[in-house]
Parts: sequence; structure tokens; C-alpha cells
Amino acid sequence: MTRVLAPTAANLLDAAQRLRAGELVGMPTETVYGLAGNALDSSALAKIFAMKDRPTFDPLIVHIAKPRRFPERDLRVLLEAPGLVDGSAMSEKARARAARLASAFWPGPLTLVLPRGPAIPDLVTAGLDTVAIRMPAHEVAQSLLALCGLPLAAPSANRFGRISPTKAEHVVAELGLRLDVVLDGGPCAIGVESTVVAIANDGTLTLLRPGGIPVEAIAAVAGEIPEARAGILEEPGKGAASPGMSASHYAPAKPLVLLERPLREMAAIPAMLLGGMRIGLLVSGGSRGAADKRFRVLGGPAPALSVTLSHSRDLSEAASRLFGVLRQFDAKEDVDLIVAEPPTEAGGLAHAIRDRLTRASRRADRPPRT
Ligand code: TXA
Ligand code: MG
Repeated sequence: MTRVLAPTAANLLDAAQRLRAGELVGMPTETVYGLAGNALDSSALAKIFAMKDRPTFDPLIVHIAKPRRFPERDLRVLLEAPGLVDGSAMSEKARARAARLASAFWPGPLTLVLPRGPAIPDLVTAGLDTVAIRMPAHEVAQSLLALCGLPLAAPSANRFGRISPTKAEHVVAELGLRLDVVLDGGPCAIGVESTVVAIANDGTLTLLRPGGIPVEAIAAVAGEIPEARAGILEEPGKGAASPGMSASHYAPAKPLVLLERPLREMAAIPAMLLGGMRIGLLVSGGSRGAADKRFRVLGGPAPALSVTLSHSRDLSEAASRLFGVLRQFDAKEDVDLIVAEPPTEAGGLAHAIRDRLTRASRRADRPPRT
């Protein structure tokens, strides 16, 4: 069974030694908990895929330590010298964009997809000629990176296709029989994964996954809105730009229906929700009880459980609670179906919240639970 360890100096040192020895460690980050292993060691990487039941066509994010002088430190020194990124494949415009985005958002929840360098093993990239790099902001992740002195591959610490963990206890629930140690960094402050942006060799930006950094913030720094590739990301293996973004990611065990619009804008509850199923109502925002009342006025049954992500409609609070609340619905026995209201807002973190709820609502091609 996984031991949950406080991030004391001794435990951090022990975890760093495990990583250096090719073992895996549960690592808190500001977005979600990661399953970390040495990004330069193919056998450690193979353990990551095996422990998560993750298909090897789904590439990993490489996490790097924050240097003492950042952002003054050149990206060349940070990424190219250690062979993580191939700078020779980047135009000046691409380099400048990468540097600007890194200095604006690193350390933090932005992952940059750049030309792959010679030190990166095939298993990291799933054979692609690009590599995803992120500098996490969480203090425990940074301590671990500094102590082990290695870049760390770290996918979210859940079994493939399941909800990402935002607390140490979620990691135990997902991987408890397989993983030895998770460092407890408390609940993740952001609660949805990093925003993944590819920078093409000519400097063009593509949004591969909405996440903790709103796309508007990226546009403000880069001077260009990253073109979203959501449409083509839904068929893994079919030339998708981000093979891991299969439609069914982030799925609770129970079926989830995402309403087309907020309850207060709806005229009636869709008939399919009235078939005697016991409903868990996931409300994005608003006052206690208002959504339940509206749900019933529209002809819906009384929910067995109703949870509001943020009563004050604070999107940061809503994002940070989202995955934990999905787990709560999964654990509640008298809920058969989760009905989720989309956030009323369009931009900011609402983008990532809507994306995760949409994915959670698509179960058709979800892999079976193990
Ligand atoms: O917030 C996060 O990014 C968390 C924490 C632990 O850092 N990690 C995370 O990793 O979400 P994971 O493996 O669950 O998601 C990685 C995403 C996948 O959608 C994958 O397809 C994409 O990044 N990705 C990785 N390398 C890529 C590449 N070379 N090109 C395109 N997409 C890539
Ligand atoms: Mg994941």
C-alpha cells in the first residue's frame, strides 16, 4: 500500500534517492498530483506506463527544476544544453515566443511542446519529434527536482482515463496497490492540469489542452491566440496533435451528462434524465439551493446529492474543487447518474472546466476500469 509522506527534509531526500534509483514517486504539483520518474531512464518510463495502464502512444510531460536565475537564464542553457530540446529546429520567432511564454508563466501550469532534443527517450514522446516541457510551481515538486537533479516525467497519478488526483489520498485510491510512496503536498491549488501549447518551428502556437493558464493570458503575452486543435484531438492514434487528449479522459466511473446550458437558461430537463435514475447534481456556481430548486421546477427529480463548485462563482475555486467533487459523486452509492451544469462564464478557467466536463461526459470509447 502506498505510504503518504509529509514533505520533510528526510522524506524528500528519500524520494529523490528513489527517483535516482529508477523508482517512481507520487509528486504534488500546483495542478494535479503526478506520477514521477526519471525522464532520461527508459526503464523508469516503462514503469510509469505500466503503473497507470497507460498506452504508450500517449506521450509524457517532462518537468524541470527552476534555475536560480530565471527568467534571466536563457532557454538555451535551460533546455538545449541538457539535450531536452533541439533548438536548431526552431526559428528565431519560435525561440522568442518560447522564451516570452516561459518567462511569463514558468514556474507554473503551462506546458510547452517544442522540438525534441537528443537526451529524450522514445517512450517520453511516443515517437513524436516534439517533447512537452513544464516547470511546475509547487514547492514540493521543485524541492524534489532540485534534490534528484533529474528532469522528471510525470503524468497525472491516476489510472488511464480516470479522474486526475488533486489530493494525496486520491493517488492512494488510484495507485495504492502499485506505488510505494506519495509525498503529501496538500490539496492542489489549481486543480486542473496545465495548459498545453505547441510552438511550431515557424512560431505558430497551437492550443493542445486548455488548463490552468487561461488562453487569453497566453494570447496577451504572445500577441496571438493559440489556434485550438480540440476537434482533431478526439481520435487517439489518428494523427492527433496531442495523442493523449482522447475524448474520454477525466471520466468518473458513473455516467455524466453535461447540460447544454446553465439551469437558469433551460426551459425543461431533457426527457432522458427523467427515467427514474438517482441523480447527483453538479452545479458550477450560485447560491445554495437555487439550482436544486430550478432543477425541480424544470421537472427533474430531487437530486440524491447536489454539490456547487463555487457559491461565489469564483472560477479558481470551481477548478480546484472539480476533480474532488467528481470523486465524491463516484463514492456516493445512491447516485446513478451525474448531471453537470456548465459554467456560465466563457473565458479564463471556465474553458478548462468545460473541457474536462465534456470529456467526462463521453464514455463511449472509454477504456474499461481495472
Ligand atoms: O498539469 C499537468 O500537466 C500534470 C502535472 C502532473 O504536471 N501532468 C499531466 O500529464 O497532465 P498527462 O500525462 O496526464 O498529460 C499530458 C498531456 C497529454 O494530453 C499528452 O498527450 C500531451 O500532454 N503531450 C505530451 N507530450 C506531447 C507532445 N510531444 N505533443 C503533443 N502533446 C503532448
Ligand atoms: Mg492525465
